[in-house]
Amino acid sequence: MLLDDKIYCEDCWSPGGVELTLLAGLLGKLNHNTKVLDVGCGSAAASINLSLRFGCTCLAFDSEAEYVELARNNVKRYGVDNLVTIIHCPLEEFESNGDVYDMVIAEGGVGSYVGHTELFQFSRHMLRPGGVLALSDIVHREGILSGKYVLDLDIPESIIKFYEPGVYANAKGHRVTESIIDDKLLISGFYKTLSFELSKNHWSRYRNNMNEHAKKHTGPAKRDPEFARTIHHEESLWATEAQKYISYYYIIAHLTKISEQRVKSE
Ligand SMILES: C[S@@+](CC[C@H](N)C(=O)[O-])C[C@H]1O[C@@H](n2cnc3c(N)ncnc32)[C@H](O)[C@@H]1O
Repeated sequence: MLLDDKIYCEDCWSPGGVELTLLAGLLGKLNHNTKVLDVGCGSAAASINLSLRFGCTCLAFDSEAEYVELARNNVKRYGVDNLVTIIHCPLEEFESNGDVYDMVIAEGGVGSYVGHTELFQFSRHMLRPGGVLALSDIVHREGILSGKYVLDLDIPESIIKFYEPGVYANAKGHRVTESIIDDKLLISGFYKTLSFELSKNHWSRYRNNMNEHAKKHTGPAKRDPEFARTIHHEESLWATEAQKYISYYYIIAHLTKISEQRVKSE
């Protein structure tokens, strides 16, 4: 069973929530002897929950000073300050100082913020052979041919505009599709173990949490005055038809041995 009777940090800033973080930890075979690197940690929910559940050590970092402060408070509140360290640093400046990790977790679209290739290359250099990369991101859907939806490649302009660089929470990267992420993973030396699209329930829970933050000007809404507007705009897109075109993709991948040999020879 993934969830036990511990009290987990529910302040997840991405739709996967506690269960999917724990699923990644389970597939990554985390335990007391393993180390996790949490990229773009936000509230530090992933690190807190992984350390609570598996006893692993986590190093979490984020580029935003306010989030780092919030994350440090959360780590203390959940009593895992002996296992989780938070640092203020953008990915572009992070140095491992020779440390190697068993898992890199990048939930909540960090790939769209820094670029997927950049994130995967970074992760490749941080992981041990066979180490696990777990990430989630918003994607433009493709290949979804259920009875209900037949993919219309002609994505409405309003949706394209909302998710393009600089609009959605200032993300720098272009929105990609599932197979673009898969291809980039492969090129970077990762073997995909599992991937899936999140259900509408996951999104509802996430949007409720974000709406609460927007109302109270807390969490991600504290830093970004535009945040509430973004959340409301997203709400209105989703009330209409965004779910036909936009999805949240969760991926768990292993670093292959071949790529490890390549890293050593670089
Ligand atoms: C949507 S939030 C996800 C937070 C957390 N991982 C979660 O799922 O709850 C994206 C996070 O990425 C961080 N971020 C964006 N660009 C970054 C960068 N270049 N380096 C480190 N963190 C970054 C943001 O500050 C934000 O906290």
